[in-house]
Amino acid sequence: MSSPIQFRYPDSAVFYRKLTRAYPRIVRGEGCWLFDDTDKQYLDASGGAFVVNVGHGVAEIADALSAQARKVAYVNGVQFTNEPAEELAAELAALSPGDLDKVFFLGSGSEAVEAALKLARQYWVERGMPAKQRILSLSPGYHGNTMLALAASAREHYRAFFQPWLVNVARVPAPYSYRCECGGLDPACPVCSGTALEEAIRREGAANVAAFIAEPIGGSSTGAVTPRADYFRTIREICDRHQVLFIADEVLTGAGRTGTWSALAPYGVTPDIMTLGKGISGGYAPLSAVIAPERILDVLARGSGGLMHAQTFSHHPVMCAAGVATVRYLREHRLVERCAAMGPVLHGELQSLLALPHVGDVRGRGLLAGVEFVLDPETREPFPRAAKFAETFVDCALDAGLIVWPNVGHADGERGDLVMIAPPFVITAEEIRGIVTRFETALDATLARTRTAKSA
Ligand SMILES: Cc1ncc(COP(=O)(O)O)c(C=O)c1O
Repeated sequence: MSSPIQFRYPDSAVFYRKLTRAYPRIVRGEGCWLFDDTDKQYLDASGGAFVVNVGHGVAEIADALSAQARKVAYVNGVQFTNEPAEELAAELAALSPGDLDKVFFLGSGSEAVEAALKLARQYWVERGMPAKQRILSLSPGYHGNTMLALAASAREHYRAFFQPWLVNVARVPAPYSYRCECGGLDPACPVCSGTALEEAIRREGAANVAAFIAEPIGGSSTGAVTPRADYFRTIREICDRHQVLFIADEVLTGAGRTGTWSALAPYGVTPDIMTLGKGISGGYAPLSAVIAPERILDVLARGSGGLMHAQTFSHHPVMCAAGVATVRYLREHRLVERCAAMGPVLHGELQSLLALPHVGDVRGRGLLAGVEFVLDPETREPFPRAAKFAETFVDCALDAGLIVWPNVGHADGERGDLVMIAPPFVITAEEIRGIVTRFETALDATLARTRTAKSA
């Protein structure tokens, strides 16, 4: 049944994310699949924006939201607490590493990052060290789109229009071994070993640095770059020595995406503050969290009395009910264990992509993978930005019924094309093979289109 309406600007009343294309209208989801109003079927190989960890169409999570909305949909988080917030906080505290056991709920990853950075700053002021205000972050890296989160993000094209409004966040080169001069092979490389953080802290003066924020495994801004085994032990040790709070931004990698609840777990370190988002409610409601230990919150409790960060919908009962139901579903269906088991299957199948033209690297962990496209796999030279290779690939993938997530600009701030694969944890081996065959079709079509564009 084809839709008579064109869902595109300016025909529809929706202010779309892109004003230059038409949108398929999705009417249903089930497992790893989405269906539009023409009955076209899409294999959701990125869980949308790395969100749909449990899969689409889980009735018991939907029922939990509706049951909570019937009981009480909203209470003001300043005056009241509520059952789902209490239950979810206890669950997340138990799942979080070390002493991280107090949970503040918000709606988006950007909000959680803003709140985590404010918490770090407020902590130092209330501890009598107000000079500690500088933030350090990895480059490339991404922490969100609100102003402070964007300031901490090294993704230039997101920042360009708003540059005059962004605070100056000091950058530490990300351990992006594919593009590091050492190729990830030199044990003493400051970038790949983590000691570059110490150089940056010394440059800023430790007395001025409040926090270092990092994604434990890169999201789309580095295409699932996985730092070496000792990287975060080095980071932890440097942060401790210089009294710098280490914030692990697990908005994308948390909730089991890399095969362990937290992507930091295999490194054996505990951050001072952690952010979660995306997968903790599986997309059934917007939900994010800031998790911090008592040793930090006690300073606020004895001083000002609370985090100076208020939002109308923090600790919202229905969004927390979505989190409770999603975490329960992950546990009851052993889906994080399943993600750990299916990760090697995914990465095994994706190895075949390396034989395809212009596929330079495939990397990642668990059900998180990045595929980097290059003009020349020998020299790793990126495509010219004007080729719009990643964007064209994503369009061709959609035509082939495959959903992947693109990123551009990671190679040198302007050039660089990659796509991310992060399917729901319920994916089967057969569906993984379906990703690979659709990927091949999409790449053929991309090459044909970019060749035509070049010769035109
Ligand atoms: C690591 C990381 N932090 C923060 C965010 C921002 O989350 P949101 O888009 O929900 O605001 C993202 C989003 O992709 C992310 O990947």
